[in-house]
Amino acid sequence: MPLKLAIFVSGRGSNMGAILDAINGGRLDAEVEVVVSNNPQAPALNLAEMAGVRTLVVSHKGLEREEHERLILEGLGAYSPDFIVLAGYMRVLSPYFLKAFRASGKDADGGDYFRVINIHPSLLPAFPGAHAYEDAYAYGVKLAGITVHLVDEKVDHGPILAQETFPRLDRDSLESFKERGLALEHILLPEVLQSIACEGVHFFRRQSSSENSTEGKALKKEGAKGAS
Ligand code: GRF
Repeated sequence: MPLKLAIFVSGRGSNMGAILDAINGGRLDAEVEVVVSNNPQAPALNLAEMAGVRTLVVSHKGLEREEHERLILEGLGAYSPDFIVLAGYMRVLSPYFLKAFRASGKDADGGDYFRVINIHPSLLPAFPGAHAYEDAYAYGVKLAGITVHLVDEKVDHGPILAQETFPRLDRDSLESFKERGLALEHILLPEVLQSIACEGVHFFRRQSSSENSTEGKALKKEGAKGAS
């Protein structure tokens, strides 16, 4: 069964395009049920329509966050996505929205997670926020990267699913730096989705407070030995 997706966009839509290309090219076993946007002017909407994908537009203008999200949830009622993919969606989702996409399974630490994926253009936890490429470039990082992660209640924070790095070159302008990062995004996001389609979500364990205990440290050492 193909993975059913709802892709949320606010702008250009190149990651959405990469997902559609991967599906058409047989590299991703998924179906985009609907593309959702808060921005009626988003170029991504034209791309989606040209590709024959249904769109749902709910402008956030003049609405409280939860009211906006309630309207989106209402529109999504006509679909049954396995995952929401935030691909350049410039709104923070509230716990009210996330609750509607709580996964039935548990994460690596036995906690709940949401069926919502985000692509972020930095090596999280470095440079969260809306201008990650600009911030990393301005900071002068030598090694930059991109992250695909599950969304939780905090911004650019949930469990990491995959990361990819790229060097900042001496000759890089901000534009060339962003272009190289974006090209990697277009590869990584469809790859992560394909791995979920095949094997479900793969979690990396996060260190929990119990792992700071003596017993936890011993367990970690065991694990490290096993991995060598
Ligand atoms: C990408 O850089 C993505 O990582 C970030 O927003 C940008 C969206 O670009 N979250 P596009 O709309 O997919 O072209």
